[in-house]
Amino acid sequence: MTRVLDIHSHILFGVDDGAESIDKSVKMLDAAKHAGIRCIYATPHWKSKHGDRERIRRNFRALLPYAEQAGIALHLGYEYNLAALDILQFEAAKDFTLENTESLLLEFPFESWPAEWERILLRLQRIGLQIVIAHPERYLPVQRDLGVLKELLELGCLLQCNASSVLSHRPEKKRVMRYIRQLGRLDFLASDAHSASDYAVFEKAVAQVAGEIRYPSY
Ligand SMILES: [Fe+2]
Repeated sequence: MTRVLDIHSHILFGVDDGAESIDKSVKMLDAAKHAGIRCIYATPHWKSKHGDRERIRRNFRALLPYAEQAGIALHLGYEYNLAALDILQFEAAKDFTLENTESLLLEFPFESWPAEWERILLRLQRIGLQIVIAHPERYLPVQRDLGVLKELLELGCLLQCNASSVLSHRPEKKRVMRYIRQLGRLDFLASDAHSASDYAVFEKAVAQVAGEIRYPSY
């Protein structure tokens, strides 16, 4: 059986702007199951060195039995923001990969990127991380210059697009999505879900691009 994968979801309750309660998390699990998803990485925002990791782990453990009941393999990960990176301690990022993988789901600033972004990526790769760019189609530097996207690919990054972007009518987003699809680099399609209704969006988007997703399952 194909186990449809979602590597970016704010399904974990009480840790960021996603699910506010365990009930909401359970509703999201049900909606994800309905959308055909059988494996989710819960990826709370991690935007600074000072996040409450213990709370994340505790809430994750609390949600696990519900996921099991829904028949969904739930794993812990993070949406790791570039701002959380300590340039004196690159190794620390290794602790925020998608559980049991070398993949770091990396979020960039939406409007302007640090001048040395390529060098940062190279350094993260040098310590053994596989960089997965969270929703590249949402960043202004990519929307302004598709060459930036090309560069990310040349550096060996994988791309995770948001399901909502497949359906978006915003021209700047559509242009990036068209380009990614032309290149055949829809590596991951993820929900970036903050509530149950986002999984209905996921289902619609998957119906449009299913054959193009490079890593639909595990
Ligand atoms: Fe997100």
